[in-house]
Amino acid sequence: MKHKIVITTVLLFSSPVLMADAINDMFAEYQQSGVSNMDAKAGEAFWKQEFTDKKTGKMRSCTTCHGTDLTKTGKHIRTGKPIKPMAPSANKKSLTDVKKIKKWFKRNCKWTLGRECTAQEQADILSYLKTL
Ligand code: HEC
Repeated sequence: MKHKIVITTVLLFSSPVLMADAINDMFAEYQQSGVSNMDAKAGEAFWKQEFTDKKTGKMRSCTTCHGTDLTKTGKHIRTGKPIKPMAPSANKKSLTDVKKIKKWFKRNCKWTLGRECTAQEQADILSYLKTL
């Protein structure tokens, strides 16, 4: 409890903590669904892993739109639209909004893997992304 109060206070003054707060909220949810450890290395591997699209046979991964250097702007593979850097160090708005994180996890996992990402996979990915 004490911890939470400190975070809320610092939140008003510093946006990196805002990111940490959204991610901590997500971690708390993952823990509730049984995730006990978060592995940034596994998250990185998952981020780069390629999955075959059943319909087209083409390979898809998170890097397909976001790229491999997450401090750089990505590019949507279908619309060509730029995607702001995912790395919090390069984009201070990145990963600061629980609703947004959830929405895109759902959509992007479905597109990339053909299914939603599990709580464990999401926890690993977020532990990786927050280090960038
Ligand atoms: C087809 C293109 C595409 C692919 C592939 C893709 N994404 Fe995304 N992703 C986007 C777009 C577009 C956004 C929204 C960017 C924005 O509005 O700032 C986004 C945003 C996100 C966000 C929210 C970022 C934030 O600041 O809250 C997360 C998390 C995310 N993607 C995770 C993933 C993961 C995990 C994968 C691989 C399983 C993946 N994405 C693959 C297009 C893609």
